[in-house]
Amino acid sequence: METVIIETGNQQGIRESVSLAVDYLEKGSIVALPTETVYGLAANALDAKACAKIFEAKERPEFDPLIVHVSGEKMLRTIADIPEQIEATLSTLINEFWPGALTFILPKKEIVPEIVTSGLDTVAVRRSKNPIFAEIINTFELPIAAPSANRFGSISPTSANAVLSELSGKVPLIIDGGACSEGVESTIIKIESVTGRKKPSIQILRPGPVTPEMLKKFGKIEKNPKSKTSSKEPTSPGQLDSHYAPITPLRIVSSPDTFTPEPSKKYALLSYRGQKKDGYLELCEWVQIETLSPGSGKLPEAAVRFFFALRKLDQLGVDEIISEPIPERGIGLAIMDRLKRASHKYS
Ligand code: TXA
Ligand code: MG
Repeated sequence: METVIIETGNQQGIRESVSLAVDYLEKGSIVALPTETVYGLAANALDAKACAKIFEAKERPEFDPLIVHVSGEKMLRTIADIPEQIEATLSTLINEFWPGALTFILPKKEIVPEIVTSGLDTVAVRRSKNPIFAEIINTFELPIAAPSANRFGSISPTSANAVLSELSGKVPLIIDGGACSEGVESTIIKIESVTGRKKPSIQILRPGPVTPEMLKKFGKIEKNPKSKTSSKEPTSPGQLDSHYAPITPLRIVSSPDTFTPEPSKKYALLSYRGQKKDGYLELCEWVQIETLSPGSGKLPEAAVRFFFALRKLDQLGVDEIISEPIPERGIGLAIMDRLKRASHKYS
């Protein structure tokens, strides 16, 4: 299969690519689309055969369910049941954060094929704020399943070229909407009412751009209560210890004095803010240094550059990528979550 990249460019280019993408979705094909977090590999979420193509292209195991995108609350209600006890909180969160990088786990309606939810009775739902994606789903008028457009377990794509290097020959069409504005995947939450308590509990199953600080006024935050499920078949999907992994071994060095370079080896550095005083820049002769947010270090900027920088360092053919730790606050929590999973198989 040949993979075609369509650049959107001006207004007319956007209109043409929207209509092409919708054609592909209507005929049951997969297509890679930009979202504000990472690029997604999209298919009609109500068409089991089309969704099977996502699993095939990504080489994704069937136990890992897909995220379903909707155009708004009305479409959400066609695929999910909303328990009365959480309805008010859900509606407040939707008003506050949609369209945006917040995914809700909700009881699924029968219309959603089993393959989408890996047989679970819940479905993960979000609404993207990327204008091209929004235009496509508004025109298509049906929910769109779209997990990240990378091979299973590897680095998430934040540009059309990254999708190409992940899925060339596996997807017929990539809509190039430029670089993703958030850079890490959506926050996934589950809202649960607690008897005797006014505020519900909000479980963060995957940290992302919508941070605990932003969510805490809406409920009691529980961070990833089941994060200890491991390796192959997680009871809480999406929590695989090893994920987002480069081909090159990756190590997080939490303090510069704990790193002793081996003279025969070549290293590259993933630096948070590229400052000498942090103690990493002169630890050895780095083949390359990628800095996530030069200067004072801004976490949202670091998030946007993170997967892009990791992918760049992975192409150098060095023996090891060394990463500085990222401050674990705000969106830094999501970056460190990805870094830890990316380094897991090498630790
Ligand atoms: O930002 C995002 O969420 C991107 C863009 C493309 O939308 N998508 C994304 O999809 O990150 P994916 O497939 O790479 O990650 C979705 C995660 C998976 O880890 C999956 O296990 C989890 O969501 N998930 C899906 N359905 C679930 C469910 N019913 N219960 C718990 N976790 C679920
Ligand atoms: Mg993914």
